[in-house]
Amino acid sequence: MKVLDDPNVLKLFEVYETENSLYLIMDYLAGGPFSARVKRTGKLPEKQALKYLLSILLGIQHLTEKGVMHRDLKPDNIMIRTEKGDDLVIVDFGLASFVDVKEYIFSRCGTPGYVAPEIANLKDPKGKYTAICDLFSAGVILHLMFDFLNDSGLWENLLFQENHIMKF
Ligand SMILES: Nc1ncnc2c1ncn2[C@@H]1O[C@H](COP(=O)(O)OP(=O)(O)OP(=O)(O)O)[C@@H](O)[C@H]1O
Ligand SMILES: [Mg+2]
Repeated sequence: MKVLDDPNVLKLFEVYETENSLYLIMDYLAGGPFSARVKRTGKLPEKQALKYLLSILLGIQHLTEKGVMHRDLKPDNIMIRTEKGDDLVIVDFGLASFVDVKEYIFSRCGTPGYVAPEIANLKDPKGKYTAICDLFSAGVILHLMFDFLNDSGLWENLLFQENHIMKF
């Protein structure tokens, strides 16, 4: 994470390790999770949704430039930088990986509904994919901002219906 340095990506400054604990020194994001914001606001106007999408895409672009894929992009893992502002920051690199490694630590990972089909349907634990998987999740988030925000029941039904959108 220390290689990452972009306004739309959480900045990790330092890591300290003791026998029992790991301390991560990072930016404090006072605006709370993006998921809470969209739940509160309801369906977003197109202009606002596209502004949010742009922030997410710029963050993904930076990750891609650094050879990193996040692999768990979803509104819970995106935060708002300040209480009053609108700037989005990608957080939670718990499942992130460099694209260019011999073998991923967790190859089949992510969150149902947001995870890209090439990951969800991966058969070979040593199988590979690319940073494009994060773009799939960004597309789902955009879809959510436009269409499903006020109807989470419908959204969940769609996600868990077999053969709909993707197989799990
Ligand atoms: N830099 C930060 N500043 C402020 N709050 C943060 C920051 N990073 C994370 N959080 C808060 O902690 C929550 C969990 O963080 P994160 O997503 O990194 O961990 P997690 O392992 O996914 O935990 P969880 O299982 O609760 O989602 C976030 O949803 C957010 O509310
Ligand atoms: Mg999280």
